[in-house]
Amino acid sequence: MKAVILAGGTGTRLHPLTLAVNKHLLPVFDKPVIYHAIEKLVDAGISKIMIVTSPHHIDSFVKLLGSGQHFRSRTKKGKQIQIVYAIQNEPSGIAHGLYFAEDYIGNDNCVLFLGDNIIMDNIAPSIKKFKKGASVFLKKVRDPERFGVATIDSKGKVTGIEEKPVKPKSNLAVTGLYIYDNTVFKKIRQIPKSKRGEYEITDLNNLYIKEGTLNSHVLKKEWFDIGTIHSLHEASVFMRKKSNNERKI
Ligand code: TTP
Repeated sequence: MKAVILAGGTGTRLHPLTLAVNKHLLPVFDKPVIYHAIEKLVDAGISKIMIVTSPHHIDSFVKLLGSGQHFRSRTKKGKQIQIVYAIQNEPSGIAHGLYFAEDYIGNDNCVLFLGDNIIMDNIAPSIKKFKKGASVFLKKVRDPERFGVATIDSKGKVTGIEEKPVKPKSNLAVTGLYIYDNTVFKKIRQIPKSKRGEYEITDLNNLYIKEGTLNSHVLKKEWFDIGTIHSLHEASVFMRKKSNNERKI
């Protein structure tokens, strides 16, 4: 399976840090944010990744990541992974960003990773098991009203997603990791622009819910969405502690 990492957007909640630097290039302790997404995908056996970003920052990503030479494939006898790039001219939403990967994905299924997310679970089993429809990764949180919130049935099928609900129906936040089958691009073409002028990922996921084909995996370990200064700092502190503990072993 191939993967797409979205690394565009505007990062306004991180101003002034993101006035000159793309959010996904900021450090989380000892690595740029986007390294975490790439390493997670590589650990899950993925060796072909497309990074979608804005025209203003693409050169920095190419300098940092090149063609993927800093990462070794888990499945292809240690050969380097392959990183390619696409430009999203305007930050018109997450579903819009994914659309640029249509030709790259071809007839394959794809993993979509929002590059500002850090996930500590091993995602390899979920990717291996995936056949069709779509899967979202959920995380139990204390403050669901800040997120997209999913309701699921006893088999883990998603029955609804509400964006930042005042009265959340569950404590399961929708994280920035998804697996889609190849019908995803046809579905993106059906989505209208939202009131805020974006092609929304929730509208895309709702099309899978309508079909009854949106499944879920609940993450057990830490999840960070480094979109705010507090969560960026929290992720750095976590990574520092993790690195200290690993050094002691
Ligand atoms: P968000 O955090 O929703 O948006 P943002 O990055 O513009 O930040 P802010 O709200 O502070 O202005 O984006 C989630 C992820 O999706 C992040 O990794 C950036 C990516 N993204 C794109 O690549 N293209 C887009 O058009 C949008 C909206 C987001």
